[in-house]
Amino acid sequence: MLIPTLSKPNLARGALVLVLGALPTAVHSLTSYANDFVDPDYIVGRKFPANTAIAQKTIVRWANEYATLGPWSVMNKSVVPPTGDKHTYMSWLPYWWPDCSNVGNTTALSREQVYKQCKYVQRDGEFNPDVRLVNDTGSFQTMSDAVLYNTLAWVINGSNIHMNNAVHYIDTWFINPNTFMYPNLDCAQGKRGVGGNNGSHAGVLDLKGMTKISSSIMILRKAAASAWTKDLDGKMNQWLSQYINWLEHNPLALEEKAAANNHGSFYFNQVAALKILAGDNSGALNILGEYFDGIYKDQINADGEQPLEAERTRPYHYRTYNLAAMITNARLAKYAGWDVYQHTSNSGGTIQKALDFAMNTGPGKEVARDLYPNVAAVGAIYGDTNRKYSRFLARGDEAYPAKPYFLWNQPLSDNGWVSRNPNYGVSTVFSNNTATKNGNSGNGSSSGGSTKNNNGSVKVVAGTIALATFSVFAAWFLA
Ligand SMILES: *[C@@H]1O[C@H](CO)[C@@H](O)[C@H](O)[C@H]1NC(C)=O
Ligand SMILES: *[C@@H]1O[C@H](CO)[C@@H](O)[C@H](O)[C@H]1NC(C)=O
Ligand SMILES: *[C@@H]1O[C@H](CO)[C@@H](O)[C@H](O)[C@H]1NC(C)=O
Ligand SMILES: *[C@@H]1O[C@H](CO)[C@@H](O)[C@H](O)[C@H]1NC(C)=O
Ligand SMILES: *[C@@H]1O[C@H](CO)[C@@H](O)[C@H](O)[C@H]1NC(C)=O
Ligand SMILES: *[C@@H]1O[C@H](CO)[C@@H](O)[C@H](O)[C@H]1NC(C)=O
Ligand SMILES: *[C@@H]1O[C@H](CO)[C@@H](O)[C@H](O)[C@H]1NC(C)=O
Ligand SMILES: *[C@@H]1O[C@H](CO)[C@@H](O)[C@H](O)[C@H]1NC(C)=O
Repeated sequence: MLIPTLSKPNLARGALVLVLGALPTAVHSLTSYANDFVDPDYIVGRKFPANTAIAQKTIVRWANEYATLGPWSVMNKSVVPPTGDKHTYMSWLPYWWPDCSNVGNTTALSREQVYKQCKYVQRDGEFNPDVRLVNDTGSFQTMSDAVLYNTLAWVINGSNIHMNNAVHYIDTWFINPNTFMYPNLDCAQGKRGVGGNNGSHAGVLDLKGMTKISSSIMILRKAAASAWTKDLDGKMNQWLSQYINWLEHNPLALEEKAAANNHGSFYFNQVAALKILAGDNSGALNILGEYFDGIYKDQINADGEQPLEAERTRPYHYRTYNLAAMITNARLAKYAGWDVYQHTSNSGGTIQKALDFAMNTGPGKEVARDLYPNVAAVGAIYGDTNRKYSRFLARGDEAYPAKPYFLWNQPLSDNGWVSRNPNYGVSTVFSNNTATKNGNSGNGSSSGGSTKNNNGSVKVVAGTIALATFSVFAAWFLA
């Protein structure tokens, strides 16, 4: 990757924008949800409703797409962290920019000199693109999605390729002696320049995706994935106990825990998910108790508005974001044995009210679809009376039953979409129609040969794969 040098610091900003503009962008069909806890027992039990068949195919397709991008490691970055060791996870505060006037900004300064000698000033909401020169944040996020989708794809599809992918990504990020990350966030969201620091409490948010890792590893364990060896499991547990210890005692982590808004909510996500993964169920319940009787109490108004998120520059986004964290905390609690879905805030708000408020308020100029996984979750958890939630989803994105989140937000109506679109995405997943070739006689709603409206996916040739066919995939799993 090209690393621009800041030979003219006064031009630095424009130059970086240009250079970074040419770097590869994310794979477009993939969406990273803020966070989610996928109940491992539901996945391993494999009693998926028939209308999730297309979502299952999407998951396999995404798993394959992610697999073209990995593995990921903290060693991938080109910048050396303040510890002098690339095994240290690092990131920089995204909205801070160099102001080199204190050192005479017409002088040629190297990148390192800019980082150390200039002062950094905040420009709220303006993302400094050179933050991505250290892409541990992007790498971790993509890795956590790749692990989750490959784990799910393994259960759905049965190919050891997916299992091996998931295990390889976990091993590379956390365990392999050449590529592992130290179990701390000492250098996350650091502030560069004069008066800066190595890391700030906001850096804890960088690893919010640990919940996805937690789901995945539990699935690998429960379904006895052969690639997830005792050795790896033991080493992962060691890593976990050190990282949980950091989260519970490091001053940066404790500062994040005290944050009243989404930062705090996501802190509890991580700790609870990791405690469950580490087998400490009562510890998870304790920490979730601290959340639901703590900051949660002031996060939702009687009308469902989330006052601490509403004051942000992008209120819809932040409502959505904190909803994801609240839902995940509630799911973790439920998994650990405590149903908090009706737990009220001080003013009588619930998660459902917060969702309804966000839904009814609308996105304004923001991205509407960010809310959809939360809508599906609330519909599945609280009940979809009069199909209020599924109809809302259908109005925004009629193909929502093809989205991965549709699999783990059940029961939820698909509004008839699945039977109207039996071939949606089929050929991009089962590109060589293996199921048909394998002699499956299952009958789909496609009569074969023709291509129905599948909204841009590749033409289906054999056309006999559809919902019924999924029974054939159960065979390997039970075998
Ligand atoms: C990141 O590091 C891993 C582990 O060393 C390596 O396999 C992968 O190719 C690296 N990715 C990039 C984009 O350099
Ligand atoms: C940053 O980390 C380095 C290496 O651990 C340490 O020597 C230094 O004191 C730290 N700086 C700050 C401002 O904490
Ligand atoms: C360069 O110095 C001028 C004058 O002090 C200042 O207005 C400007 O913001 C500085 N630019 C940078 C990138 O520091
Ligand atoms: C950072 O990582 C993400 C996820 O892997 C990737 O999509 C993005 O292109 C990366 N950014 C840069 C500047 O390399
Ligand atoms: C599908 O079959 C073609 C031709 O046999 C082969 O070239 C291709 O690699 C196969 N694709 C997959 C995903 O197996
Ligand atoms: C699993 O996915 C692979 C790759 O997409 C595909 O070739 C294979 O047919 C699938 N297997 C089953 C049993 O669906
Ligand atoms: C497949 O479905 C079609 C349409 O529902 C039906 O006419 C046909 O008899 C079925 N074939 C088999 C083998 O079940
Ligand atoms: C699918 O295609 C139909 C007709 O071309 C279109 O009306 C509909 O909006 C599309 N849906 C999606 C999710 O792209």
